[in-house]
Amino acid sequence: MSFPPDFLWGAATSAYQVEGAVAEDGRAPSIWDTFAAERGIDSGEVACDHYHRWPGDADLMAGLGMNAYRFSLAWPRIVPAGTGPVNPAGLAHYDRMIDGLLERGITPVPTLYHWDLPQTLQDRGGWTSRATAEVFAAYTEVCLDAFGDRVGTWLTVNEPWVVSVLGYRLGLHAPGEQDLRTSVLVAHHLLLAHGLAMGRIRERRPEARAGIPLSLYPTYGASAADAEAAWGSDGYTNRWFLDPVLRGEYPQDMVELFEGLVGPLDFVRDGDLPVIGTRSDLLGVNYYTRRRVSAAPQDGLPWRVERAEEGVPRTETGWEDVPGAFYDLLVRLRRDYAIPLLITENGGVWNAGPDASGRVRDTGRALALRRHLLALARAMDDGARVLGYLHWSLLDNLEWAEGYSQRFGLVHVDRATQERRVKDSARYYARVIAANAVVD
Ligand code: NOJ
Repeated sequence: MSFPPDFLWGAATSAYQVEGAVAEDGRAPSIWDTFAAERGIDSGEVACDHYHRWPGDADLMAGLGMNAYRFSLAWPRIVPAGTGPVNPAGLAHYDRMIDGLLERGITPVPTLYHWDLPQTLQDRGGWTSRATAEVFAAYTEVCLDAFGDRVGTWLTVNEPWVVSVLGYRLGLHAPGEQDLRTSVLVAHHLLLAHGLAMGRIRERRPEARAGIPLSLYPTYGASAADAEAAWGSDGYTNRWFLDPVLRGEYPQDMVELFEGLVGPLDFVRDGDLPVIGTRSDLLGVNYYTRRRVSAAPQDGLPWRVERAEEGVPRTETGWEDVPGAFYDLLVRLRRDYAIPLLITENGGVWNAGPDASGRVRDTGRALALRRHLLALARAMDDGARVLGYLHWSLLDNLEWAEGYSQRFGLVHVDRATQERRVKDSARYYARVIAANAVVD
């Protein structure tokens, strides 16, 4: 099973999760600095020190044969107050990094927003305010003007479902609010921000390709009687984002459900949906696990997410490790949306550390990687158009509210010394990349 010759092979990170250097070169605080301090949880203050160590990390990527790197541009470095003055030192950092990647034959794939909203904007309402979408578009212009000559692939707003639901309904992510209506409002503004950014990309860099990375959960009924519940849950997590971005409309069943629960969605203005539906060139797919649901209410919604099924392999955080669901998702996206896909994240937690000889035997990750790549190849055989695969993550990093205890990296990071160690999974991945095929 081999891949197209121009297939992108690489890994992904995001600024707050890896950079550290939170107070350097004019970076202003983001909502995640605030949230971590308020909750007393691990913060990104040092993270993987990637802000300083990126050249070594880029050497590691090149050594593994990777030809693409997904990272995020930190809005609070580039426009520290969110709107207004641009910080030249922030731009200079990413300028050097993009050049450094290109020199090593690595295609830069930046994400414009990976959750580190400038705190100043949060103080004015953050994503509950429509104005945040507008200033995001202005920040996008700054990035396009600075890097657009060297960046050909842009990702807009990472995982709006996670931001709106974990940040505004469940209170688990910054800024920690818990209100369904606010979460639907925030999701709309994030989608609007995506659409406005797409418009700017179209205008300023018509030759670039761009799209949104979504967290997608293939959703199954726990039994045959739960098919409708599964469709509802799919609406909540997947279609609420896929449909407006790729069809220019919100799914009607979900509009009715939300209006019944929180009243009219009057923050959706005339003309917003065509903006959100601005033509995308690709869809970013962040896939980790499936979801099984049953028809019983839970937390105010009419379906219940079931626990992991007995006997199904799991990662070390308990996520079901089911490559077949990845295949189902890719085939479904082809059937329902017919857009080229870029796998912008896929991976899991296996916490293995170095043994006495310094080797990191993360066999679980290597096996899961192989099985997911086989599923990917099978979906491509069955017609899914996939531009590349970017594993989450390059490095063990800050897993948001879960902190540093969850290791997603292909490369081990020693928290005390910042020493990097290429894990067994990365060595396996390097062999795949070299063969451009799923090897044993
Ligand atoms: C989704 C997010 O985009 C990323 O930041 C996170 O670390 C991974 N998934 C793993 O949960």
